[in-house]
Amino acid sequence: MTRDITDFIRTIPDFPQKGVMFRDVTTLFGNPEGMKLAVAQIVDAFKDTEITAVAGLEARGFIIGGAVAERLGTGFVPLRKKGKLPGKTLSEDYTLEYGTATIEVHDDALKAGDKVLLIDDLIATGGTAAAGIKLVERLGATVVHAAFIIDLPDLGGAQVVRDLGVPVTALCAYD
Ligand code: PRP
Ligand code: ADE
Repeated sequence: MTRDITDFIRTIPDFPQKGVMFRDVTTLFGNPEGMKLAVAQIVDAFKDTEITAVAGLEARGFIIGGAVAERLGTGFVPLRKKGKLPGKTLSEDYTLEYGTATIEVHDDALKAGDKVLLIDDLIATGGTAAAGIKLVERLGATVVHAAFIIDLPDLGGAQVVRDLGVPVTALCAYD
């Protein structure tokens, strides 16, 4: 029997604060069938495209994005939380469903003309993905598509990304 992506995702209520239904992908990543299904669905969608690099958002975007980059035959660019990258960086501040943060990229991680697939585990308000798109574009590269395992459409993030001119793919959605 073919299983669905949602079969592998656990929901934990009231984490990290009351009222948030936390969609936990550690159960998907920890299951060989779940990991394989998620990677295959993203790779199948982009294997015949012109992508030259995958950029992943810390932290869970590193796990899925690294696997996808290897399968697509591209390099992987980490978009990291502030203060973690050792070289010269560009920064973008953003707001989250429950807080604020800053992400950074090395200023030589991409070049003008690169066509980037942006990857994260989940899109909620879209603040993280929008900051990632801005960083990539400040390096002269283009985000040609953004891919997520999970979309939370009630929080409007996928539309925020589409409004930036970037098409969005999500493997599943939770109301
Ligand atoms: C989560 C998730 C996305 C982001 C989505 O990461 O993995 O990166 O939130 O939220 P948004 O669409 O409202 O911006 P989180 O900030 O919890 O960081 P972590 O992956 O390091 O735990
Ligand atoms: N990041 C932002 N909102 C989230 C949620 N509801 N579940 C998991 N990660 C999140």
